[in-house]
Amino acid sequence: RNILAPDRPLEGKKALVTAGPTFEPIDPIRFIGNYSSGRQGYAIAESLRDAGAEVTLISGPVSLSPPDNINTVKVRTANEMLDACLAHLPVDMAVMTAAVSDWRVRNIAKHKIKKTADILLPILEMEINPDILAKISQLKNNRPKLVIGFAAETENHLKNAVDKRIRKGCDWIVVNDVRSSTNIMGGSENEVTILSSFGKQHFERASKEKIGYLLTQEIITFFKSENR
Ligand code: CTP
Ligand code: CA
Repeated sequence: RNILAPDRPLEGKKALVTAGPTFEPIDPIRFIGNYSSGRQGYAIAESLRDAGAEVTLISGPVSLSPPDNINTVKVRTANEMLDACLAHLPVDMAVMTAAVSDWRVRNIAKHKIKKTADILLPILEMEINPDILAKISQLKNNRPKLVIGFAAETENHLKNAVDKRIRKGCDWIVVNDVRSSTNIMGGSENEVTILSSFGKQHFERASKEKIGYLLTQEIITFFKSENR
């Protein structure tokens, strides 16, 4: 507990949060995106702020308004999101909730692709996007003390998430089964399990605000034990 500000246990700590989808352009008017609303990431950013942290929120395209007293940086593509994250280091903690597009289009058309003829369908060539979470987790310099990833899985969700945490090198991974609990992506509720190297902790289905609050409590506990 911070004796100078008991209600702001994260006072003096910096947090980086990514949220929302990324949009990867196909041509000047089309993109590849996903259903992420950004709500879980925004809710986490707000609870970290309420606990006293200085929060930078790197947000993909969402319809949410930038929260008060949070440095919100809007980006569009995965590459822009990575650059914005690196530009805001060092931080004490990074919470990567964004649904980053795994691929981008290699052959982005300079002009709007025309329909021309039924037989001439456009072919999109894809290339892999940088893995922002893995990059931040594996930094040699400026690696945040606590790096938290998210995993939305539709099958074998705990096993996949354990593998994902180890592969990427993050400290915790927050997993949800986006198939069995319907309406999570884009919805207002979430049901998650936090996996760390110590074990797992399940949280009942709750509003994304409540999940943000509960995750923040876990983060506060982590930093308290760090300071002991
Ligand atoms: N992530 C990221 N950059 C990417 C892809 C994912 O930072 N290019 C982050 C997400 O923000 C999330 C975590 O990695 O915190 C897991 O994302 P997920 O899509 O579940 O993992 P992938 O490694 O992309 O695996 P897959 O999509 O094949 O399940
Ligand atoms: Ca992915």
